[in-house]
This record gives sequence, structure tokens and C-alpha cells, in this order.
Amino acid sequence: MAHERDISKAADLLLAGKLVAFPTETVYGLGGLATDDAAVAKIYAAKGRPQFNPLIAHVADVDAAFALGEFSADALKLAARFWPGPLTLVVPRWSSCDVSLLASAGLPSLALRVPKHPLALELLRAVGKPVVAPSANPSGSISPTTAQHVRDGLGHKISMVLDGGPCAVGVESTVVSFLDGQARLLRPGGLARQEIEAALGYALLEPKSGPLHSPGQLESHYAPRALMRLNATAPEAGEVFLGFGPFSSPHSLSTSGDVVEAAANLFRMLHELDATGAAHIAVAPIPIHGLGEAINDRLKRAAAPR
Ligand code: TXA
Ligand code: MG
Repeated sequence: MAHERDISKAADLLLAGKLVAFPTETVYGLGGLATDDAAVAKIYAAKGRPQFNPLIAHVADVDAAFALGEFSADALKLAARFWPGPLTLVVPRWSSCDVSLLASAGLPSLALRVPKHPLALELLRAVGKPVVAPSANPSGSISPTTAQHVRDGLGHKISMVLDGGPCAVGVESTVVSFLDGQARLLRPGGLARQEIEAALGYALLEPKSGPLHSPGQLESHYAPRALMRLNATAPEAGEVFLGFGPFSSPHSLSTSGDVVEAAANLFRMLHELDATGAAHIAVAPIPIHGLGEAINDRLKRAAAPR
């Protein structure tokens, strides 16, 4: 089991951009500093996810959550009633929100949770910033409920596993979104639907289809205002160019040709280039190995006809 100095070591590692697995009451999370694009990219790389599924930002208390996203009266009611606990709320991000856009997978929303495990709360207080954490297992395998599960699945890819014993709940948090004035159940989990519905006084709706609500669907997902041209070797007149590899300044996803670095920069740079007001963004070819697969997937969606 973890001691006080383990907590401060874990917090220091997170603040330095390293990955640390930590216990929550649901499952162990693979934590990275939410405001650090590169740390978030490392999480996707470590899990081997073929896509950038958006991640949950974990915070120490309700006030820290309110600073990052906009809570409707009903969202606030659930936060007050069930946090800390196995409930994740998806709300619109404030424009001032400094959580990596990669963690939101480019969506204008953010998933937030205050976990109930004492070590998780101590860690979050020590870090003083939001920590994103998917379940700490390789993509496609079973969620870890002990520190040993984490070591078996991801041990060599992370800096530290904070051991808090077995998880009490054992299934992931329930995910509820508040994006269109309606409460929708996106994922059943550790908090029963009935408890949430009793607190709200009405039934949860089904998830809506469409890019804002179902991040996994193959349609225009994060779409910049500018039109996109992919696999471009050089910019044409009227285009801003997003490069990859050596000699690709001023805007490059990675001058060293590193797909993890490119993933870290992807959404932020697309936003920045879009904000220049250019009518077209041309993007260099990105290799498909490792995180390159997810980058190409997202670029294809951003370039999809609309
Ligand atoms: O219990 C849990 O929730 C654990 C512990 C570590 O906190 N975490 C976890 O994370 O299960 P993950 O990444 O495996 O699942 C996150 C879920 C996914 O279903 C994802 O699609 C959804 O939350 N999600 C996150 N951000 C979202 C967003 N902006 N819009 C819609 N869904 C979102
Ligand atoms: Mg998972």
C-alpha cells in the first residue's frame, strides 16, 4: 500500500509529464497531467488505442470541476449529490479551460469526475491540477482492479503504480452528459441509473447520435472552419500548411517525425491554424504506425464532406 511519500513522488512525476497509474473506487486509472498535450498523447500511446477516445479529467473537488466546465442546474445537482463517487459528468468546456484538447479528442465538451478513493483524492490535491485517466489497461483488455493487474498489463510503459489495494466498485463510472439541456446516459457504470433518476426526478435519455455525443462514430468529428486537404506535399496558394518531419516549419506536428508528439499537437495546431482565418488547411502525409493511425482517422473526419 502507498505511503505519504509515494503520493508526493507520484504528484511530482505527473507534474513532470510522466504517467502514473492510481487507484480509484471504480478501477485503476492511467493518469497523466490533463493540461499537458504530450502527457495525454503518451496515455493514448501506452494504451494502444486505435482512436482518440476522449478521456475523463479527474479533480479533487466540485469547485475544481466548475472551473473547467459549465454545469447546468441539474448537472450541479448530480455533482453535489454523488461526488466524490463513481459518476462522470460530460459538460461543455469553458473557453478558458486549459485541459488539453487532445484529452477531449477535439470535442467542445469535457468529462469530469471526483473519484472517491482516498489515495486518488490525496494525489489530486497534491497535483493541484486536473489529471486525465482512462482505465489502466491496454486497449481491448479487461479493466484493472488491482495494482498487480496494472503492472501485468502496462508495467513497462508507466513511471509508477500507486498501490491502493483492490478497487471497491470494480466497474467504471457511470457517464452522464449535459450538452443539450438534457441528461443522457452515455455509459452505464458503478452508479445505478435509478439512483441518478431519483435525484433528478426524471428518466435519463438515450445518447444522441451525432459527432458531439458519440465520439467513436465515423463522420465529421472535429471539423475546423477551414476546408482541409490531406496528404499534401506542399501548400498551394491560399493554404496554410501543417507539416510533419524535417523542414516542415513554421507549423509542424513534429519536426522529428514522432507520431506521439504529432498527436500531442494535433488538435491545438488545427485550432491555431483555423484561427488564422485561412480558407484552406493543407496537411502533410502522416505515417500510420502507432498513434499515426488515430491521427489519420481524426484528420479524415475533419476533412469529411460537410
Ligand atoms: O471509472 C472510470 O470512469 C475510470 C476511472 C479511472 O476513473 N475511467 C474510465 O475512463 O473508465 P475511460 O477512458 O476508459 O472511459 C471514459 C468514457 C468513455 O466511454 C468516453 O467515450 C467517455 O467517457 N467520454 C469522455 N469524454 C467524453 C466527452 N467529451 N463526450 C462524450 N463521452 C466522453
Ligand atoms: Mg476503459
